[in-house]
Amino acid sequence: MSRGSAATSGSGKWLAPWWKDLRPRWGHPWHSMCSYLAMFPPALPRYFIEQCSREGDLVLDPFSGRGTTPLEACLAGRIGVGSDLNPLAVLLTGAKVHPPDMDCLMDRLEELERGYRRSNVHGKAPPEIEMLFHDGVTLPQLLYFRSELSSRRVVDRYLLAALVGILHGNHPRDPRTARTLSISMPNTFSMSPSYIRKYIEKNGLEKFPFDVFELLRRRLKYLNRQGMPEVRGRVAKRDARDLSGFIAKQSVDLVVTSPPYLQVVRYGKFNWIRLWLLEQSVEAVDRSLRVEATDKRLGLSDQFRLPTYKKFIASCAASWEQLLRPGGVCVAVIGDVGGRGKESVNLAAEAWREIKEETGLQLVDIVEDVIHAPGKVTRIWGDRRGEATKVDRVLVMRKPGSRRPRTRNPAKVIEDMAAQG
Ligand SMILES: C[S@@+](CC[C@H](N)C(=O)[O-])C[C@H]1O[C@@H](n2cnc3c(N)ncnc32)[C@H](O)[C@@H]1O
Repeated sequence: MSRGSAATSGSGKWLAPWWKDLRPRWGHPWHSMCSYLAMFPPALPRYFIEQCSREGDLVLDPFSGRGTTPLEACLAGRIGVGSDLNPLAVLLTGAKVHPPDMDCLMDRLEELERGYRRSNVHGKAPPEIEMLFHDGVTLPQLLYFRSELSSRRVVDRYLLAALVGILHGNHPRDPRTARTLSISMPNTFSMSPSYIRKYIEKNGLEKFPFDVFELLRRRLKYLNRQGMPEVRGRVAKRDARDLSGFIAKQSVDLVVTSPPYLQVVRYGKFNWIRLWLLEQSVEAVDRSLRVEATDKRLGLSDQFRLPTYKKFIASCAASWEQLLRPGGVCVAVIGDVGGRGKESVNLAAEAWREIKEETGLQLVDIVEDVIHAPGKVTRIWGDRRGEATKVDRVLVMRKPGSRRPRTRNPAKVIEDMAAQG
């Protein structure tokens, strides 16, 4: 398939997955700003962005997570737009698609450092946070950052995003060279407070006096060593099924996304430490991400079961269909899910069956992408319950019609979106 033209056949021949041959850490340093559950490798959206869109096009990820697709889109000269209901995802995506300039960032960090007096720190952390950070140095500094930074300011949003990325993680053999602020623990997600408490006691884990200013300064230098994308994008905290008022109808050229997995990930619960720093309630995040809580029409059920999931994906696709331009492409990475001891479910095929009924989208292909178990996040803590996704499938769909001939001016598109609110 030539660069820039839309997919037209269901043969699958054009989908040479070169993204799989790249190093696991391929991509701009901002992708590693903060790890995120079920994130996809940057080379995957990049492949589809290059194949299915042109410079100046609008590329959307309505489940943007850490912002992999919008960042890759901006780096490739497209307008990267993301939305997500998780405030952590909105923060990370926003920091990447609308960053401050580096001087501004360093000035703000210096200003904060000058203003810091341990004796002036107000508030107290809950015991489950106290057990993770050094009481004399790290914890009061974190409380200070927590009260001073506002995610509504562009510069503070970037600082917060970088800070949540180094909030917790494994230490090297010599803890003085550590790059994260907590006791030694996983970086990608947080185990439950009671598990961590027992783990600390059993292993006699020590809290080291890490200086937040120092580690953050080093982190900013690392993150900004390659410069930033020239094109800016946008982000909003919105439900993927309804992006009206944020994105105009027929304005999106390409959607590249990975919807939430069926019954697998609790984004709030598994991020309780980061959400504490962001002053967000874990319960509220998980409640907002439960389909039942956000759309009563789908029927109330205690769990995110297959029929509910299929209706959810179909209603997402129906909304994206309206946003796509004629000829626009929609790419959804959907993992198979297997219950304990049960056969795995090909969610992509199930989703397509429902989408076909509910929308006018056409199927281009469903491509299989087998994942090697050691790379999966759920294995890091020895998960053997068989709930990790073993096969991802890339569902590629297309809106009928032919694409417009010209490239737009990215700055003008962003202006128009801002004007729409
Ligand atoms: C598989 S993750 C996406 C990860 C992303 N591709 C990345 O690379 O970081 C799915 C995302 O969907 C979000 N989500 C779940 N339900 C949602 C909804 N109804 N509307 C918007 N976002 C939702 C979750 O917060 C999560 O960030």
